[in-house]
Amino acid sequence: MYTAPEGVSATEFTGLQPELTRVHGVVRDKTRAGLDAEFACLNLPELMAPQLAGIERAAADIRRYRDVVVAGIGGSSLGAKAVYYALGNAAPDVQRPTLHFLENIDPYHLEFLLARLKPETTAVIAISKSGGTIETVVQFLALREWLEKKLGTIDARKRQWIVTDPKQGWLRQLAARESLPALSLPPRVGGRYSVLTATGLLPLATVGVDIRALLDGAAANAARCADADPKTNPALELAALYYLLDVRKHKRISIMMPYADPLLQFVNWYCQLWAESLGKRVANADPAGTLPVRAMGSVDQHSQLQMYLESRADKMFTFLVLDHWENDRAIALPDADRSAFPYLAGKRLSEVLNAEFYATREVITRAKHPNVTLYLPTLDAHVLGQLIDLYQRVTIYTGLLYGINPLDQPAVELGKQLTLAYLAEPGKVKT
Ligand code: PA5
Repeated sequence: MYTAPEGVSATEFTGLQPELTRVHGVVRDKTRAGLDAEFACLNLPELMAPQLAGIERAAADIRRYRDVVVAGIGGSSLGAKAVYYALGNAAPDVQRPTLHFLENIDPYHLEFLLARLKPETTAVIAISKSGGTIETVVQFLALREWLEKKLGTIDARKRQWIVTDPKQGWLRQLAARESLPALSLPPRVGGRYSVLTATGLLPLATVGVDIRALLDGAAANAARCADADPKTNPALELAALYYLLDVRKHKRISIMMPYADPLLQFVNWYCQLWAESLGKRVANADPAGTLPVRAMGSVDQHSQLQMYLESRADKMFTFLVLDHWENDRAIALPDADRSAFPYLAGKRLSEVLNAEFYATREVITRAKHPNVTLYLPTLDAHVLGQLIDLYQRVTIYTGLLYGINPLDQPAVELGKQLTLAYLAEPGKVKT
């Protein structure tokens, strides 16, 4: 990890130590009670162990299909999508289906996708913790009809899997009524913290991601975060930085900028985790939370960077950088073009990308914008597992520093209720 000098002073860090000790203790204590623990999401490598064989069996069944459509939204989709896109080239020797994440209820997207898939070679996984999220219900109903029209009810049902709460919700009832295979989610683990449950593990195992390595990576990060000392606990260090940069330095916008295309979906996952967990009212104080923003190196150097450098000084940056690239192509520079680009001679693509990164970080640092860099050794399941546990932990620590509950999302509930009210009685809602 690299932290730019512009930012939080050692004294400010030391001053926060009693609070860091407190939040570290809360997380430790509220992770202990196994599946009933409030922060069970931080102990999933251990808690999921008994379910892994069942997940792998279901994945082996689903792997017989060429395409797998995931019906789900928010926390029930973004985590699996993040890992899938990060490890797109993993396990090349395994016969793998292609995953398609619907997420929205956009009619164009659905028609575009279905026009390219064949019901005979397609499976569907419907994922919803509550089992009744309207987007997921509508996606799943459309997919079921599409399968049934071509294959009939019996064969259509053979292509459907469900991941949901063990007892409640429409999906659970449907699974019981139609004897559909259904995997259960730990009741205390909420959507955006559930990538290391069947929510993420089932689709990922289906495409050959090493889910045991993913969980081992998360466990390795958890072990690294055992102390209440930010010098040795990277999650606590990051939480302290993000928190102090907001409340002491008024950095209200938190930009995460990977220099690796496969991590773009990881940043989407992080943005949802951060925004939905931390954007909260605080009694008698400023609201909590910084606005998470996704950027992309080097693409946004040609788009957003000007604003980052010269607009309001209300931003902090997190860079994600790879130490090692698989398939790193050497630049084919013909002799005739050497004089035009002498600095490219003998270079690989990653060297050019790294030069872009170092230059960008340098101008951001010179402009006195605080920034932190996470160096990932490479992109594999173990590293992704570490990164997931790291940011789940950072988010929870940061929420506790703000004094809010990082697990709920009270403000978005009204919108969900009004959607249903509008569908039930369109005339009664303003349009
Ligand atoms: O993180 C969350 O809790 C939300 O983003 C949910 O995952 C999202 O609303 C979907 O909910 P469900 O899994 O119940 O369908």
